[in-house]
Amino acid sequence: MVRLSTVAFGLLASLANGVAAQSSTTSAPVDDSGLSGSVLVGFPTVNVTAMIAKAENQLGVNGTVTDNLPADYSTPGTVVKARDLDFLKLMKRDSLNSILAEIACLALQIAFGSKLAQQGTGNYNSWNNPSFWSATTYMTPTCVFKPANANDVSLAIRIIVLCQSQFNVVGGGHSAIKGWANVEDGVLFVMSGMTGVTVVPPSGNNVGVAQVPAGERWGSTFTQLDAKNLMALGGRMSTVGVPGLTLGGGISYLSNQWGFVTDQVQNFEVVLSNGLIVNANKNTNSDLFKALKGGSSNFGIVTRFDLRTWPSNGIYSGQFMFTNQNDFPALYDFTYRYHSSLALTDVTTHVISAFVYVAGFGHIGAFTAFRNIATATPGPSLQPLLDINPSVTSQAGLAVRPYGQQCILLGSGDVTGLRQDMRDFSAYISASMYKDMWNIWNTNVASKFSTVAGFQGTIAFQPITTTNIAAGKAAGGNSLGLDNNTGTMAIINLTHQWSNSANDAAILAALDSTLALLVSYAKSKGIYHPYYYLNYARKQDNPIGSYGSASVSAMRTVSRKYDPLGVFQDLVPGGFKIPS
Ligand SMILES: Cc1cc2nc3c(=O)[nH]c(=O)nc-3n(C[C@H](O)[C@H](O)[C@H](O)COP(=O)(O)OP(=O)(O)OC[C@H]3O[C@@H](n4cnc5c(N)ncnc54)[C@H](O)[C@@H]3O)c2cc1C
Ligand SMILES: *[C@@H]1O[C@H](CO)[C@@H](O)[C@H](O)[C@H]1NC(C)=O
Ligand SMILES: *[C@@H]1O[C@H](CO)[C@@H](O)[C@H](O)[C@H]1NC(C)=O
Ligand SMILES: *[C@@H]1O[C@H](CO)[C@@H](O)[C@H](O)[C@H]1NC(C)=O
Ligand SMILES: *[C@@H]1O[C@H](CO)[C@@H](O)[C@H](O)[C@H]1NC(C)=O
Repeated sequence: MVRLSTVAFGLLASLANGVAAQSSTTSAPVDDSGLSGSVLVGFPTVNVTAMIAKAENQLGVNGTVTDNLPADYSTPGTVVKARDLDFLKLMKRDSLNSILAEIACLALQIAFGSKLAQQGTGNYNSWNNPSFWSATTYMTPTCVFKPANANDVSLAIRIIVLCQSQFNVVGGGHSAIKGWANVEDGVLFVMSGMTGVTVVPPSGNNVGVAQVPAGERWGSTFTQLDAKNLMALGGRMSTVGVPGLTLGGGISYLSNQWGFVTDQVQNFEVVLSNGLIVNANKNTNSDLFKALKGGSSNFGIVTRFDLRTWPSNGIYSGQFMFTNQNDFPALYDFTYRYHSSLALTDVTTHVISAFVYVAGFGHIGAFTAFRNIATATPGPSLQPLLDINPSVTSQAGLAVRPYGQQCILLGSGDVTGLRQDMRDFSAYISASMYKDMWNIWNTNVASKFSTVAGFQGTIAFQPITTTNIAAGKAAGGNSLGLDNNTGTMAIINLTHQWSNSANDAAILAALDSTLALLVSYAKSKGIYHPYYYLNYARKQDNPIGSYGSASVSAMRTVSRKYDPLGVFQDLVPGGFKIPS
């Protein structure tokens, strides 16, 4: 591996200033049409070949990339043909990943100066690991790039693609899978510099939207909306990122009423692999729009999410902690009643039914109740939960509060830096499954690790109601493949955390066998549903494949059209891909 001296970095940083100033006065091309297998090289005024040549020169690897670029690539704004990039791709096959990443990183540093941190220098440590929720996902990318806006993302992706370097993108960093939002030999885009919600009020036929840049998290987004008495669909815990959650579907407090989070996105601003910044909405690039609703990181780097807003004067919500296991049978019964009928009786409600085990403490039924109403009235759907154990109710903090405050309350206990695992599967609901699944999980996981440091586990049951699916369909449809669903299904969600890597193998093995037992239980009862919710799925499951063949083939078509060189399939090593 070639490493640069600090002196060389200083020289390059001063060189960078001129270029960065140039690109900040130039806007990247925005083009909603005329997509082809071509790449626009650089901003109109930036000589990308020169940047790459300088990087090669500093690294002592002259010509590695530039010898493969025809001479005309050095003219700013040159269009690169697909066949030329096919030629460049040959470089990759020579297992040059680490040097290609170093060339790309240095060229990015020349272009962007302090927005780029090389391994072991500057902001690298403060931008890298702190972006991630689970310690199991820490890696050492060649460099970390923190764009300030979509133009930065556009120029960066053009440099990276010409260098054929690997890369990845981290939003809120709450994926628990190593390599899904991170990369080893490659460039890591950290989106956290792109923040600040802009509210656009309704006008004419257009609904009101919140334009949310990809660096935002839900707590901050909703706090900015609360200040304007607005709400939007989004995550239920403040710490989670907007991009990953939205691109994978997204379960919100408001999902019974208005569908998945992604269903109410009005527009995505996306940087494609050829550097074009495009909008995807129901009128423009509508095929890409639908593919992004569930398609995760397969099509581009999304730089802004335009979320539909509704007026809100507050909501009614609270947390319930049932520490007496005598209450559990009533909790299973309530959860079934809520999933099968009460959620439909009042679609403005939401209940999180989570059963938690904390080593050194014991079992807890951790329930969250929510109603989209600004008065302290639980109504017929939540009242049965309040009735289960009045002494718990009195501690529940049930209150009317601003919408964003509920998300902040639930997110306040979220801790980063532990070892985390998430996995899920789906089933049509049945009255007995809650108790039976809890028993399988308790026998095979919870009771086994009671002496492991920091061990905590949860089995949660999340209904996907027919009203949720219908609301998504009414809003134009998504790619999740659930449109044909005829009955309420539930996502069964296992989340576990612990503190010591020495326990990884034993815990993961127990979780693998437990998931297999839960799936065979569902199959034996005839309630198994093939859907894997992407945002909680395990690495070896295939959530995009679970959307069904029609959805997968539509996504493949969209990928070929908007990413004809397969950059997001080949150069981004992690993430759930479109199965071939
Ligand atoms: C504590 C906790 C609470 C949660 N609560 C909910 C909940 O209420 N509802 C729910 O539905 N889910 C929830 N989840 C699951 C959550 O949706 C996923 O963890 C999701 O991946 C988080 O998004 P992120 O931006 O934080 O993730 P990241 O780890 O940053 O990214 C996830 C994936 O998206 C890609 N990506 C990130 N940014 C971009 C971008 N700008 N363009 C293209 N691709 C991008 C990444 O490369 C990666 O593949 C929760 C998870 C946790 C850990
Ligand atoms: C761009 O840079 C290359 C490499 O340094 C150089 O050969 C070429 O002349 C430059 N192109 C323009 C238009 O300045
Ligand atoms: C790379 O090229 C530059 C000039 O373009 C030259 O000064 C330098 O010596 C070359 N380095 C190597 C290792 O060939
Ligand atoms: C999955 O479990 C986690 C941790 O208990 C919880 O935060 C999340 O809300 C659960 N998801 C669903 C869909 O219930
Ligand atoms: C819905 O369609 C998917 C994909 O085609 C299929 O796997 C699933 O079984 C269907 N579900 C129902 C309820 O028909």
